[in-house]
Amino acid sequence: MASVGSDLDRVDLDKALVIEREQWGDGPPHELFKRLRRECPVHWSRSIPEYPEEAGYWSVTTADDIHAVSRDWRTYSSERGGVTAANVGFPLELVQAMFIGMDPPKHDRLKALFQAGFTPKRIADHEGAIRQIVIDVLERLDGREKCELVNEIAQPVVSRVIGSFMGIPPEDDAVWANLMNSTLGAGDPDLNPLGPESLVHKDIPEIFERCRRLIAERRESPTDDLTSVLVHAEVDGQKLEEHEIVMGFFLLVAAGNDSTKATYASGMRALMQHPDQRRLLFEDPSLIPSAVEESLRMFPAFAHFRRTATCDAELDGRRIREGDKVVMWYVSSNRDETRYENPDRFDVRRNPEHQAFGAGGRHFCLGTALARLELRILFEETLARFPGMELDGTPTVVESPFINQLKTLPVRLAPA
Ligand code: HEM
Repeated sequence: MASVGSDLDRVDLDKALVIEREQWGDGPPHELFKRLRRECPVHWSRSIPEYPEEAGYWSVTTADDIHAVSRDWRTYSSERGGVTAANVGFPLELVQAMFIGMDPPKHDRLKALFQAGFTPKRIADHEGAIRQIVIDVLERLDGREKCELVNEIAQPVVSRVIGSFMGIPPEDDAVWANLMNSTLGAGDPDLNPLGPESLVHKDIPEIFERCRRLIAERRESPTDDLTSVLVHAEVDGQKLEEHEIVMGFFLLVAAGNDSTKATYASGMRALMQHPDQRRLLFEDPSLIPSAVEESLRMFPAFAHFRRTATCDAELDGRRIREGDKVVMWYVSSNRDETRYENPDRFDVRRNPEHQAFGAGGRHFCLGTALARLELRILFEETLARFPGMELDGTPTVVESPFINQLKTLPVRLAPA
């Protein structure tokens, strides 16, 4: 299939393959998604060229259809086949040990262990601590002219925030960040130079080994962190098995690490590219929460999540068969023309609803309040300290149809 741009109109959509590395080199293929929404909103791709052993998949591209899939967990299972279009490098039984890879009732029981701690009210108690983490990281840049925003600002902040929730010692933040980046960005040659096959031999055993130590410490003496919640949890009268504790830990650390970093970096880039929009925030800082929502809409940290059909079904006129993969493309639904005027325009006043956190189903993001708080503080403190921050060279993107994020974002901190 041809790549994006003017060639796209000639592409035969029946033959189009949505997940093809060449199309994602610069981030999501928005022009292709635009055509799919218009001409073929539920689209079949027969294969994933990079992983020939993987079956084809349905692409669901509009907000209404994604909402329907997300809410119907009986028909569209998170447990049956994994949560990403290709289960690259990650054994299915480990995905199924995280509650993101479970269906009710077990999903609901496990998630409930954490929900009380993640309400907006409980999360607001952390505002002072999170602001201090952000300030500490920004202060390290004093006297510098330039920095690389993803790895020098975003990464250390998000790692310490989720690290403090999980009880990870600060000196281990960088190790965990690397493990999360290589497992979630398994197909990216920089984040995981050894390739997706290496996860099973290298990263996953290391995650288990490191987690075992944290688990043993908490069995010995319980603490008030989330790792302790997992270690001492009882679901249906039974303690979790070790691999369920490890994968529960992995889910929280991975989700906390990656997504907030992604949205902050893409949002900051957009503000630097659109100085008029940034000016609006200086004039009226109460617009920052709206700018956060607009960044979530335009740059959803996860391009997709996947379900698997448990029975034959019909979706927007297409016949889905039992066992088919059904991929919900949030990068597409968040630019759905029926919901947004001028969807490709970055507008900090829009304050949109969106599907960056999921589409209202059982798996709706647990961390929304935490992510929103972190993003607001990150924007506030960065804009206050570096009001003239500018792009300084070409950013790079993670090569992935799953995590939608910048790998590097070189910036000039205080231009003359
Ligand atoms: C900008 C930040 C974030 C974005 C865009 C985001 C997005 C998402 C999405 C799309 C899902 C899956 C919804 C689905 O398709 O079914 C999800 C699930 C989840 N997120 Fe987030 N997330 C963010 C931050 C966080 C943070 C900070 C945490 C903190 C721990 C977190 C924890 C989780 C968990 C545990 C799940 C699984 C929920 C379930 O299966 O019921 N997320 N998130």
